[in-house]
Amino acid sequence: MKQITFYLFSVALAWEGCAQKGQWNENVIGGPCEDCQLMFEGMPSQLTSTTNLAPPDEPGEQLEISGTIYQQDGKTPAAGVVLYVYHTDSKGLYSKSPGQKFGVRHGHLRGWVKTDANGRYQFNTIRPASYPNSKNPQHIHPIVYEPGKGYYWIDEFLFEDDPVLTANERSHLQNRGGAGVIRLTINQKGWVGRRDIILGENVPGYK
Ligand SMILES: [Fe+2]
Repeated sequence: MKQITFYLFSVALAWEGCAQKGQWNENVIGGPCEDCQLMFEGMPSQLTSTTNLAPPDEPGEQLEISGTIYQQDGKTPAAGVVLYVYHTDSKGLYSKSPGQKFGVRHGHLRGWVKTDANGRYQFNTIRPASYPNSKNPQHIHPIVYEPGKGYYWIDEFLFEDDPVLTANERSHLQNRGGAGVIRLTINQKGWVGRRDIILGENVPGYK
């Protein structure tokens, strides 16, 4: 009986450790971060400041997003920060690619960038669609990971021209990492947008 009690106690401790630290022993900052630990699944050991999320034959309209990540002062570029993003496909689904093993709940349109010496990042993908039969705005989920410090979600990338991005929707935004609503322009290749991010901005408990 003593052994069973000790075992249960150990499991409870381990579970609590997991919940607080997330997976891979990284700290979660700013409150609960649902499924955020999936960002570490399949994360390459070497990351660059630009990436392509979508395979060449991915259906949908091309989208390029770039920007600068700044330190808390909003002025100093933050180098070496990881930004993980994932989003729905052109049907509004988090669809899995054939043979995908990692981060399946986030679908196959997922990827990582690590800011360069000037804090810059860029990712190319396709424009996500709203969830099927919904009034949910098109969105890209971002998670910031500051190596040695922790990770946290920031406001989704949303699009000014999205007809279902209503004033009511906007009123609930927390502006974590700074405003996430971006204005897209179009060129011959597709949609282009820019978002700068401020580390820890409006993230509770961030120091
Ligand atoms: Fe979503």
